[in-house]
Amino acid sequence: MLMEVFELNKYYKKSISLMSRDEELIMALSDVSFGIKHNEIVGIVGESGCGKSTLSRQLVKLENLTSGKIVFQGEDIKKFRGSKLKTFRKNCQVIFQDAMSSLNPSFTIRDILSEPLDNHYNLNRAEKHSIIKVMLERVRLKEIILDRFPKTLSGGERQRVNICRALLLEPKLLICDEIVSNLDVLAQASILQLLKELNREFKMSILFISHDIGVVKYICDRIMVMQAGKLVEVIDSRDGTYRITHPYTEQLFASLPVTHPDNRANNSILIYNHTDNQERSLR
Ligand SMILES: Nc1ncnc2c1ncn2[C@@H]1O[C@H](COP(=O)(O)OP(=O)(O)OP(=O)(O)O)[C@@H](O)[C@H]1O
Ligand SMILES: [Mg+2]
Repeated sequence: MLMEVFELNKYYKKSISLMSRDEELIMALSDVSFGIKHNEIVGIVGESGCGKSTLSRQLVKLENLTSGKIVFQGEDIKKFRGSKLKTFRKNCQVIFQDAMSSLNPSFTIRDILSEPLDNHYNLNRAEKHSIIKVMLERVRLKEIILDRFPKTLSGGERQRVNICRALLLEPKLLICDEIVSNLDVLAQASILQLLKELNREFKMSILFISHDIGVVKYICDRIMVMQAGKLVEVIDSRDGTYRITHPYTEQLFASLPVTHPDNRANNSILIYNHTDNQERSLR
């Protein structure tokens, strides 16, 4: 296992009103446990507010856990400080939904892409340029954008810059938190295709988080379903069949648009009923 997560809990405190000191506890994550294998693309799907971004922040140690344990390559990340934390952050990259806010608007794309290389390696200008050039090509961006500013790029291009920046550090795990949600269908499809290729080529694990079951289903073999801070179901579809037991997962799958009958035949969705031990087809 590349990463293992044990019984994660995260509570936030929120003031009930401006006038009182009383606080309410928001249970953002509750008893979340799962593993990410080397070289796999695993998905997390769940509605808005179910705790997906809270989970991404915990996984890269951006916040302190309320309780639980996260193990990366056999080590508890809680202990990581200084250079160990720096190496962990290099190995474990996260990209968030809002492509613009993660790109400094006063930096050119060249500055943005040089920054991680400057932080982690000691390279001269020419060396940096040649590494950036190769990676830009890989994410299908033109070299000409290097002298432009983020606001002059399209949403899809900005998200490619974010992917490029993460890949420059050759991470072992890439966490994608709703990274295609602001894009149109064509831009979405090309980013998903790119992630699939990068996973094969760089042997990099990807945790792909989205509220959209259709998108997650396209890219992941294993899908974890999250509801109100809990993982309610894990579906493995490597044999082309989705075996569902939880009513919330059934709702998510039922909301998918019906595709062409030929496509439907390739992926069957079976719902397992615990009461009578029977399986039935969703459609
Ligand atoms: N810093 C915080 N302080 C207080 N509550 C928070 C904080 N961050 C998240 N929450 C709450 O935790 C819950 C989970 O939020 P989170 O952003 O993780 O959901 P999400 O699944 O990523 O939603 P979306 O799909 O809309 O991005 C929400 O109820 C949210 O209001
Ligand atoms: Mg979120």
